[in-house]
Amino acid sequence: MKEIIMVKKRKADGEPCRKCLQVEEQLRDRGLLDRIDRIVWAVENEPASEGMVMAERLGVEIAPFFIVSENNQEKVYLSSLQFIKKELEPGAENRKAPEVPPAVELADELAGKSPLTVIDRALSLYGEECAISFSGAEDVALIEMAVQTGKPFSVFSLDTGRLHPETYRFIDRVRKHYGITIRIASPDREALEAFVGEKGLYSFYEDGHKECCTVRKVEPLKRVLSGYKAWITGQRKDQNPSTRGLLEMVQKDVFTGKGGGNLMKFNPLADWTQAQVWSFIRSHGVPYNELHDRGYVSIGCEPCTRPQQPGEHERASRWWWEEGTKRECGLHK
Ligand code: ADX
Ligand code: SF4
Repeated sequence: MKEIIMVKKRKADGEPCRKCLQVEEQLRDRGLLDRIDRIVWAVENEPASEGMVMAERLGVEIAPFFIVSENNQEKVYLSSLQFIKKELEPGAENRKAPEVPPAVELADELAGKSPLTVIDRALSLYGEECAISFSGAEDVALIEMAVQTGKPFSVFSLDTGRLHPETYRFIDRVRKHYGITIRIASPDREALEAFVGEKGLYSFYEDGHKECCTVRKVEPLKRVLSGYKAWITGQRKDQNPSTRGLLEMVQKDVFTGKGGGNLMKFNPLADWTQAQVWSFIRSHGVPYNELHDRGYVSIGCEPCTRPQQPGEHERASRWWWEEGTKRECGLHK
């Protein structure tokens, strides 16, 4: 007989963990909560509580998690999305996909709507064929919102090979915090070896960042995007008034996606300010890059990012030796 157990965490102060409540809410909203046979508590300061014993036995450090036992076999799910997809709604992916309206209509429909509404709409249209491109603080706010929708989604990050060690640790922390898969894309080995062989490791200080960004970011981005139909970015208008001032919430992208058409691109935070992003991060306990506590605001590759200087706009800390209008790496056209 099959038994499905959900292990929830109760914190030392007696409160249930926020993420467990959120996941439970999602299951309830989708009419799936009744499918859980047993809810078991892992009480933070009680190692003998049933959930803590299960977590210890299975080597699990995050909550909630799910155990499905059948015929003396156990499957453990750390990701609620994977759990829903594999155990509660198998075959959901074969259902007919909803019809996608033209980009202009979608833009009209979503104008002035909250980032959560935009993400919810994007994911109901595209599900896992829509990917959040993740590197910075904004993007984790997007992941948090995507998790809140309870809908399937994908996440990728471009590993340029030049990120700060803190950023690599941050990416992994986000992976564990949400129990999600993050596709990490690397530059093409041959193109990279040819480029650094010819120009060395710091050519961007001499003749600009375009060539290096093309090899390390833009080409890998194109490759990754060819597997999706839509993507979500954390761009904001106020990040760079000279290049992002007219940023739209929804647009047809220049890049080609799965099936050969141009991708739909969502920028749900287009109208948010930096302060709104940080207020969301703090109030939802969203993980962030530890460099932000050391004066960094906008964070890219290590050699091309510095802490924000007094009185400086956030974007001025990226490629600071170049003109403001050139401070874009080509991911966003
Ligand atoms: S960049 O074009 O100058 O590098 P910025 O750092 O402002 O971009 O980030 C804007 C958005 O681009 C992010 O919110 C994220 O969606 C995407 N992005 C930037 N860098 C990466 C990366 N290394 N991997 C994945 N997405 C990225
Ligand atoms: Fe190269 Fe700097 Fe661009 Fe990173 S940000 S890809 S190191 S030029």
